[in-house]
Amino acid sequence: MLGPRKSIESLARRESGHSLAKTLSWPHLIALGVGAIVGTGIYTLTGVGAERAGPAVILAFAIAGAVCACAALAYAEMATLIPAAGSAYTFSYAAMGETIAWVVGWSLILEYSLACSTVAVGWSGYLVGWLQSAGIHLPAMLLVGPHGGGIINLPAVMVALAVMGMLIAGTRESATLNIILVIIKLVALSIFVAMALPAFHSTNLEPFMPYGFASTEIGGEKRGVMAAAAIVFFAFYGFDAVATSAEEAKNPGRDLTIGIIGSMLVCTVIYMGVAVAAVGALPFQQLANSPEPLALVLRQLGQPVAAHLIALAAVIALPSVILVMMYGQSRVFFVMARDGLLPRSLAKISPRTGAPTRITLITGVSIALVAGIFRLDEIAELANAGTLIAFMAVGACLMILRRRSPELPRLFRCPQPYVVGTLTILGCAYLLFSLPESTLIRFGAWNVIGLLFYYLYSRSRSGARQDAAAA
Ligand code: ALA
Repeated sequence: MLGPRKSIESLARRESGHSLAKTLSWPHLIALGVGAIVGTGIYTLTGVGAERAGPAVILAFAIAGAVCACAALAYAEMATLIPAAGSAYTFSYAAMGETIAWVVGWSLILEYSLACSTVAVGWSGYLVGWLQSAGIHLPAMLLVGPHGGGIINLPAVMVALAVMGMLIAGTRESATLNIILVIIKLVALSIFVAMALPAFHSTNLEPFMPYGFASTEIGGEKRGVMAAAAIVFFAFYGFDAVATSAEEAKNPGRDLTIGIIGSMLVCTVIYMGVAVAAVGALPFQQLANSPEPLALVLRQLGQPVAAHLIALAAVIALPSVILVMMYGQSRVFFVMARDGLLPRSLAKISPRTGAPTRITLITGVSIALVAGIFRLDEIAELANAGTLIAFMAVGACLMILRRRSPELPRLFRCPQPYVVGTLTILGCAYLLFSLPESTLIRFGAWNVIGLLFYYLYSRSRSGARQDAAAA
């Protein structure tokens, strides 16, 4: 029923010609983590979160961060126990069997691809605002998809395709450039906090929870702290992209632990600072639904130069998020194709760069199309649904493998694994069901399509199934 499981030993063995080069060490991985984590979530969705929760968006960040911290601990143990590409998909294959692994892999497609598309749209918002403040106006029809009365969000499409080109040029160069972009992004957020905090007014935090705690439909939209947490959750993930690159880490035990937990901690501290500074400086209604809320805050505070700089930093650095997530996506596709669940021809590695070129091309073009057409918050919510499923699976894998194979060497041991695993699953489930119904319906439809594909195509071609039949 649940399909064959992969042994953890077999995951360490790789067919020659189908394995990835070991080129990354921990500074690359921390940069990959922070590069993937800090992005449109804090730069743009802070405004959507404020609209849904009021000033309590600060609390929403704390809740989403706490759930992600549990997931990060589970990820760190799993990634060092199974240092093979594919993250939650590969862990699930070992712990719960092929069928669940497929569902998780299919959910990871939503996580990585739609996160890339979301960030591309967020990037476009800052680019357009930045150009406008410099007196440059582009044709409105080319700045938004059909949902906003335009034809296509062309800047979003262009940035997604540009990042794809960088990945095809080779992992290492991209990871090094990523470090520079991460620094720009963090300096910009620090400047934001330094400029906005002096304008803090405690009256802006009252009432703190105008829409209450639970996600409830108010005025045709889900509102409340949990509704906001379910969307700003987007701001925290990305650390799992580090786990996805395990097969390419030089020293997975040390490098992955530092990479995942370190990047998570850095980001949580920064977000709390940014959220307090933003909602303390302006009444939350003014932040709601701005395509560039952080620049807006600074402009309203009479700091146009700083606003310009923040927007510029976002424009320069947000592509690093797309880079890491697209990298993660191409690796998940690659492993699923290598396992025979997707066409094997996709798992071909370029002999020149050591990167899976064909799969990166397909991934990049699909991401660009979604970014060009759909609405930012809807894409982000669907990405969150996929991610929440993947995180729940990792929480479950942590507990299952602790019980089934306690003797295996674990380079990082998650403290209180059953508490952390359970909290990960329950926390993610609460966030999932705090998403709007329309998102849950779309997510259900995506999984129905996935399972049809699995039963009609993948199951009979699965390498693990063929091995099991031959044995
Ligand atoms: N956490 C990433 C972001 O906020 C996906 O852009």
